[in-house]
Amino acid sequence: MERSLDDVGEQSTSVRPATKQDLEGIVRIHTAAFPDNYLTHLGPGVLHRYYGGYLNDPDAVNLVAEQSGELAAFSVGSYRDSRVLEHFYEEHSGYLTWSTLRRVLVLDPVVLRGLPRRMARIWDALRAFLFPHRRKEPVIVSAPDVRDHEVIGSLVSIATAPKYQGCGVSSEVLEQFEQELRGKGATEAHLSVSASNGRALAFYAKHGWTVLEGDHGSLSLGKHL
Ligand SMILES: CC(C)(COP(=O)(O)OP(=O)(O)OC[C@H]1O[C@@H](n2cnc3c(N)ncnc32)[C@H](O)[C@@H]1OP(=O)(O)O)[C@@H](O)C(=O)NCCC(=O)NCCS
Repeated sequence: MERSLDDVGEQSTSVRPATKQDLEGIVRIHTAAFPDNYLTHLGPGVLHRYYGGYLNDPDAVNLVAEQSGELAAFSVGSYRDSRVLEHFYEEHSGYLTWSTLRRVLVLDPVVLRGLPRRMARIWDALRAFLFPHRRKEPVIVSAPDVRDHEVIGSLVSIATAPKYQGCGVSSEVLEQFEQELRGKGATEAHLSVSASNGRALAFYAKHGWTVLEGDHGSLSLGKHL
């Protein structure tokens, strides 16, 4: 059953740009909202480094929603091609290698399942860690930001704390995120979502996002802004 803000005892949502002080809250929401996510299983240290990169990136658009001073939701993305992910793998290669190995050794099923898809990146990170002087130029894997005069922004992650899901907070964050992207000149936005994430797919469809392509259980969605 759909809940309202009154059901969670709150009155109004305020959506604002995220600051570095929000990192702790963002990691907490990610951990609760994505219990089966690969990065969640690598641990909070990895999540701090991952989201910390976005909070430091001038091209990023990061928002949080608050309910009576409590962080309820966040969105992270960028309004044009961003190299945050590449920097994340480059800068934290040692820590990432160690965090991955630790989980592999205890046979963490989520990490073992996610490894094949990430093998190339992990191998690059391992090589950069072991042979830093032979670091190779990072491969740009994110979509180009300009295609046929479209400026493409991306939504990297959006999550709402479980107790605030289904009460409209997520919609406010997504709508504000799209507005921010538009304001910065993006004409289109893309995101990637697991094909099995029915709730997120329903949420994006409700907001006018459509499927662009699918691959290995992951769907690419887009929206004209
Ligand atoms: C995805 C997310 C941000 C959506 O926020 P939300 O507050 O749950 O969104 P809403 O309730 O407004 O919309 C979800 C829609 O899915 C429907 N829904 C609810 N539970 C569902 C389920 N188990 N399966 C499919 N649809 C479901 C809702 O009814 C709603 O549709 P409606 O408004 O037409 O009734 C939130 O669920 C979340 O943080 N999930 C975990 C993190 C995540 O998956 N992020 C997206 C990764 S790309």
